[in-house]
Amino acid sequence: MAAERPPSEAQWLEVTVMLGILSLGDFVSSHTPQNFLPQAATAPRIPATRLALHHFDASYGLQLGERWPAVRAALLCEQKYGALLNSFASAEHVAQELELHNATDFVSEAARKAQSLLQGSEVGVEKGESVSPEGHGGGRTVTPAGTSPPPAPIGSNIKCYTFPRGDITRFRPAWPDSLGLLSYYLMDAASLLPILALNVQPDDFVLDLCAAPGGKTLALLQTGACGHLAANDVSISRTKRLYQILSSYVPKNVREAVSVTSYDGRDWAELEGGTFHKVLVDVPCTTDRHSVMETDNNIFHRRRTKERQMLPMLQLQLLISGILATKPGGDVVYSTCSLSPLQNEYVIERAIEIAETQFNITTHAEDLSHFRTLFQDTFCFSSDCRLGELVLPHLTANFGPIYFCKLHRA
Ligand SMILES: C[S@@+](CC[C@H](N)C(=O)[O-])C[C@H]1O[C@@H](n2cnc3c(N)ncnc32)[C@H](O)[C@@H]1O
Repeated sequence: MAAERPPSEAQWLEVTVMLGILSLGDFVSSHTPQNFLPQAATAPRIPATRLALHHFDASYGLQLGERWPAVRAALLCEQKYGALLNSFASAEHVAQELELHNATDFVSEAARKAQSLLQGSEVGVEKGESVSPEGHGGGRTVTPAGTSPPPAPIGSNIKCYTFPRGDITRFRPAWPDSLGLLSYYLMDAASLLPILALNVQPDDFVLDLCAAPGGKTLALLQTGACGHLAANDVSISRTKRLYQILSSYVPKNVREAVSVTSYDGRDWAELEGGTFHKVLVDVPCTTDRHSVMETDNNIFHRRRTKERQMLPMLQLQLLISGILATKPGGDVVYSTCSLSPLQNEYVIERAIEIAETQFNITTHAEDLSHFRTLFQDTFCFSSDCRLGELVLPHLTANFGPIYFCKLHRA
């Protein structure tokens, strides 16, 4: 298949400044000479975590208003985990043990809820209410006033256990079964939502464009549905961690079928355009929770200012590349672990625009608002996202932030 050619770096920069993702001010100031001068020896060293918090106070304070103090407190407290059950390990007694400790599988619970809501909406249809199936029309699906969108069934083999709201019990570390495969993988449970949104169907060809260290790759394998799975990450050292996760959780015959690569995801379309039914684009971002808590590898470190400022452009390029890698009729899920609209909705809007104007590819963002209904017992959602869904950290449900948005390629 002939690959669609992505724009050059110079063209990207022009497009991004033109579209306002990188303001001219940011662009010019990041190129002025003082940014290349070493810091004066006497200059006070403000830790990157503090810089991150200042930055978030200014931007998220405005964005979230009176909800920001609660989100801020949650970001600064211990996060909650979910235990993604490893279906490749002998896990039956594991589920029993977790349930004994009061943990529940939030994915099955949502599937049950979806089923009963769907039955309810079918009753509604019989009574003559107007409801439409999961939005595949143009633009974001608009629900007629007074009706709620019918929930898409959460058909997944994934099982992920969490403790109830307000319960801050920790999971004990996973243990190996008789074949050495670990029983569960501890992760931010909200990270599973992008995988559930992708809705992998049997035999789908799936691309995980920014895959390392591999939590979501493992979750994709747990669906048991991938016909082929390509897991890519530009970082060779992080790809090694992906291999480690695969060897700790996945039997040899299954992991050998996963194609692991270390390409720059922005070039993917040149290699394999229009090939995949489902593409996950889980981009590098300001990793808000990490940035306020950890000094190591902190994107708010002064020497990484330019890299941080250029993140929306990198994210946009990766998302465009993900769209180009998708077959017509396929889906892309874009996700970040940031609250920033500049890294979330803004990237989606620009990608839809560029896909249309430069590549003649029509995409639209799907309505995922039923996720709020289905998962509201486990996560706190923002109700303000123009496109996609955002899980807000909260002390009673300290997951996220996770933003996810699904694009359907016409
Ligand atoms: C948020 S992390 C992905 C986490 C992963 N999906 C998971 O669930 O474990 C973003 C990843 O993007 C990778 N990355 C950054 N720039 C990239 C590029 N140009 N192409 C491909 N991967 C890239 C980083 O190395 C990093 O591992």
